[in-house]
Amino acid sequence: MEKDVLIMGIETSCDETSVAIVKNGKEILSNIVSSQIESHKRFGGVVPEIASRHHVEQITIVLEEAMKEAGVSYKDLDAVAVTEGPGLVGALLIGVNAAKAVAFAHGIPLIGVHHIAGHIYANRLIKEMEFPLLSLVVSGGHTELVYMKEHGHFEVIGETRDDAAGEAYDKVARTLKMPYPGGPHIDRLAALGEATIDLPRAWLEEGSYDFSFSGLKSAVINTVHNAEQRGEKIKPEDLAASFQASVVEVLVTKTIKAIKEYPVKQVLLAGGVAANKGLRTALTAAFNEVNDIELIIPPLSLCGDNAAMIAAAGTVLFEKGHRAKLALNANPGLEITLYNDQ
Ligand code: KG4
Ligand code: ZN
Repeated sequence: MEKDVLIMGIETSCDETSVAIVKNGKEILSNIVSSQIESHKRFGGVVPEIASRHHVEQITIVLEEAMKEAGVSYKDLDAVAVTEGPGLVGALLIGVNAAKAVAFAHGIPLIGVHHIAGHIYANRLIKEMEFPLLSLVVSGGHTELVYMKEHGHFEVIGETRDDAAGEAYDKVARTLKMPYPGGPHIDRLAALGEATIDLPRAWLEEGSYDFSFSGLKSAVINTVHNAEQRGEKIKPEDLAASFQASVVEVLVTKTIKAIKEYPVKQVLLAGGVAANKGLRTALTAAFNEVNDIELIIPPLSLCGDNAAMIAAAGTVLFEKGHRAKLALNANPGLEITLYNDQ
């Protein structure tokens, strides 16, 4: 029998401080997530300086809790994997330095992980990956279609040219005077309304798998302002439903189109917006019509930022021989394709 691989994951790229212990890249022994949402709410978004301070306060507590809950000791760990980017530089640095301290103190390898690779690998905590596969990544900072021919190899076949899907959700929510993060609020509201308001869908040029959500976001803001000026009332639930219908239709249609050009065995949904009920339902319905391709949607607990997904991706990089130096730095603009040739 092969020896188990035990990896610690650390994630601090935005507003969650998280540490996890994962066995063989698939089994979560612990996954502690400390959210700062309450502290950022009154500012209507994440304040980088406040995020860093919270990470500093939380990281040791979360780390100790993750070790305790997993019931392992440091000598059992094979490596420590940490989000090196993209994200807020000050926030990333807290995780990167905590990981370096663990690696140095316990003499174990350090692995740098791309945040989006983590979101994709959240799916491996549910189901073994089969290649080639396509991942629809929808988060607060990213919206892209990522093709993978093997573990640890990422090819971006389409990405947003402006706002990410989650960002558009958050801005629309702010226009409707809802608290940060707005995505879940719009999602709940959309379920109560009808998509009766005509909003644009950005298909872009024929054959492109890129996305664009800023025109849709502006259309929603204009609809609200025009109605206010005319003294008309718009039902917020109908506006939310119409906005969501536009986002979901584009995401699902482009994904279905992509699997016709890129034959794959699986399609994985990934990122914070993967929690969206409208998207989950529409994607599931679309894949009912598709034979031979498995659709994997992570449970809600693994859609948002968490360290188990970083440990899962880190395990694959560890097994492929990736090692970061103790000089590892946070890299807010890190490209996912960096890992391909190593
Ligand atoms: O992946 P994530 O936790 O952080 C980033 O890596 O960006 O994604 C956060 C984003 C936020 O924009 C949030 O509003 C959005 O995911 N989100 C949702 C839902 N839950 C979270 N958007 C739409 N519907 C949801 N249910
Ligand atoms: Zn994320």
